[in-house]
Amino acid sequence: MIVLSVESSCDETSVSLIRDGKEVLSNVVLSQIDIHKEYGGVVPEIASREHIKGVTMVFEEALRNAKIDKKDIDLVAVTKGPGLIGSLLIGVNAAKAFAYANDIQIVGVHHIAGHIYANALTKDLVFPLICLVVSGGHTELILMKEHYNFIKLGETMDDAVGEAYDKVARTIGLGYPGGPLVDKLAATGKPSYHMPDISMGDTFDFSFSGIKSHVINLVHNINQRNEVLNVPDLCTSFQEAVTEVLVSKSIRAINEFDAKMFMIAGGVAANKGLRKKIAERITNVEVVVPEFKYCTDNAAMIGIAGYYQFQKDQKVDDMKLNGSSRLNLI
Ligand code: KG4
Ligand code: ZN
Repeated sequence: MIVLSVESSCDETSVSLIRDGKEVLSNVVLSQIDIHKEYGGVVPEIASREHIKGVTMVFEEALRNAKIDKKDIDLVAVTKGPGLIGSLLIGVNAAKAFAYANDIQIVGVHHIAGHIYANALTKDLVFPLICLVVSGGHTELILMKEHYNFIKLGETMDDAVGEAYDKVARTIGLGYPGGPLVDKLAATGKPSYHMPDISMGDTFDFSFSGIKSHVINLVHNINQRNEVLNVPDLCTSFQEAVTEVLVSKSIRAINEFDAKMFMIAGGVAANKGLRKKIAERITNVEVVVPEFKYCTDNAAMIGIAGYYQFQKDQKVDDMKLNGSSRLNLI
């Protein structure tokens, strides 16, 4: 089965072709990071306009790279949400137009299901499994007992972990997206700054707004007193506190639900400090981490999630019935 997939939920326009939920034939990602960098974050209106400019070219390149005929495509999968509504609409409408013009069935895929299924490109999933989802908009611990069944054990009560990384980076003037920059500096410092307790007790829930505010206040106080901020040490202290809570709650979930596999998903899954701590501390179950190129937003992950979603319920979003979208966009 060949799936053509589309992702446009934030600032990446991406189209991919995948055979049998495994073999990536092409995965073209057009990133807008350099455009949004100037503003210190994603500007939704600009993002929508850039998706419109790029989407046709990305479709064409993905089809060219995959070297397959449009007639051989069995399913179109598109991110239906969550994400920036203007950005989502471009991908959904492009996918619908392609599906309609070529008479192909279409499914709408949850963006986070895509991040989770990026792991299935590395290893066949074994159940029950625990997945730690860490992205710019989400922080969740998920239990899966079978394919395409997601049980949320806990989530962030406020900011997502990637959001906290980006805000910390911005406060110390590192630029956007800040996560990778904080990660890089964290490898060179010492955890010399005190960080608040972010353990949230015995729950599987998280909270990152407190530590984010703590770092902002710390930096402002240091600046006001004309003291020198040790940037690598601050990055190490922040990263150490954040990765500690992520890993220790993951371990508790693995033990409590007798998981056979543990995986991480989302942009922050690229974090080297997190990967190192997982490798050191989670040794009793099989650990899967997605390839770096499939950690941040891309259409391949939507294609594989769409493949498993379709295998499970055989349901399509039939665009021809009433001419309007039956995809729930939120
Ligand atoms: O999953 P993603 O591409 O987009 C969302 O769906 O949100 O994640 C983007 C987030 C950004 O906040 C970015 O700073 C963060 O992932 N990120 C990282 C790293 N690489 C990307 N955060 C920490 N360390 C990294 N190496
Ligand atoms: Zn994402």
